[in-house]
Amino acid sequence: MKRIVILISGRGSNMRTIAERCAAEGWPARVAAVVSNRPEAEGLGIASALGIPALAVDHREHASRDAFDAALARAIDAYAPDLVVLAGFMRILGADFVRRYEGRLLNIHPSLLPAFPGLHTHRRALEAGCKAVGATVHFVTPELDHGPIVIQAVAPVYAGDDETRLAARVAASEHLIYPLAVRWFVEGRLAIEQGRVRQLDGASQVLI
Ligand code: GAR
Repeated sequence: MKRIVILISGRGSNMRTIAERCAAEGWPARVAAVVSNRPEAEGLGIASALGIPALAVDHREHASRDAFDAALARAIDAYAPDLVVLAGFMRILGADFVRRYEGRLLNIHPSLLPAFPGLHTHRRALEAGCKAVGATVHFVTPELDHGPIVIQAVAPVYAGDDETRLAARVAASEHLIYPLAVRWFVEGRLAIEQGRVRQLDGASQVLI
């Protein structure tokens, strides 16, 4: 049974989808804990209601980024995870932290990476006149929103879309691909070869 720790900062809709699908579909894994850098994150209450240990490591209580990363790692390691899942975790993590979980640290980003790393992806995509947007699940490397891509989902941009509508459409795609990627990982169906991810069963790594 693989142990998953999920890191969140806010609403936790990806965390919820992963936890629910894991339980409902009988993955060989369980969500061992949900950790937030914000004690007020809505997702902590959702995790508790699902019976998952939910705790906060408040970044404001740490003097430096390194001190926060170390405290976060201690909290995570108490659950001995096989996989750490960043699901709307909005703090930049240092290289030491990333290296500690290398190869077992996944992130989801609301764009078709390598386009639009960083914040305000939907606004920037609208400003650029993009006709398609999407989301990317990737293994984390020390470079922000960068790393071997596991799966991407493509969503259309319609005339009249605003940031809110686009974000909702992309979020729906995220809820399809993130559980799939996590399931592939815990079932041992992913390989990283020369910096690229291969799904060993030949499943499609793009959802359109
Ligand atoms: C998601 O859209 C996720 O892609 C994004 O935060 C949202 C979290 O929503 N993550 C990032 O922007 C990371 N760079 P959720 O809390 O409802 O899962």
